[in-house]
Amino acid sequence: MRKPIIAGNWKMYKTVPEAKELVKGVLDKLGAYEQVEVVFCPPFTALSAVKELIKGTSVGLAAQNLHWKEEGAYTGEIAPAMLKDLGCDYVIIGHSERRQYFGETDETVNLKAKAALAAGISPIICVGESLEEREAGKTNSLIKEQTEKALAGIAASDIAKVVIAYEPIWAIGTGKSSNGQDANEVCGLIRATIAGLFGADAANQVRIQYGGSVKPNNIKEFMDQPEIDGALVGGASLEADSFINIIKY
Ligand code: 13P
Repeated sequence: MRKPIIAGNWKMYKTVPEAKELVKGVLDKLGAYEQVEVVFCPPFTALSAVKELIKGTSVGLAAQNLHWKEEGAYTGEIAPAMLKDLGCDYVIIGHSERRQYFGETDETVNLKAKAALAAGISPIICVGESLEEREAGKTNSLIKEQTEKALAGIAASDIAKVVIAYEPIWAIGTGKSSNGQDANEVCGLIRATIAGLFGADAANQVRIQYGGSVKPNNIKEFMDQPEIDGALVGGASLEADSFINIIKY
């Protein structure tokens, strides 16, 4: 049985005081709720402060990026061990915003995923198609290719630690979410692709999230789908009430 994972990707929002306020607000209302795994993904600058507040709870911590090298002269970059040191359980890799604005490729996604696992951090690997690609009928081939390239060379024994987030680019921040059935189909394709690489048992352990305009009023539609094991939430994770309403769908 895969435990659902609901992660709030804060993107480039929240100063440290704002981050603390949000986390306190969520924790207050969360109580001892264990049905889903909750993860905060603050910007680097707020990781420590958030970690302090979630210590002793079952809430997880994720960074939004990392570099694949262990250390070195890479000004402005953050190494896997640095994130581990701060208490990160997860790291988001290959978000479409990073692919679009910061030159992230399937190859760097793969390097980062392997580096995260080597440091004991579970990667949340994002895949997704643009509206153009969807309309051209390329969704399935593109998602399969992104998944295969991201997971190339990962040890079979590590695959259960990987989370995949299916985020159709046209649904991010637009208020236009996918529908449960279409998202389920793509998540099923991702699982079949993983099964092709690592076997069905391994694939059945991997959690696959949907992301893209997830809100309190549509979360259930996604969580009702058999292939969807959680959500990667952007805008609606920036406010305690809406994030809690998503967690407790
Ligand atoms: P929104 O929920 O704001 O559409 O963002 C989705 C996302 O990109 C999460 O990583």
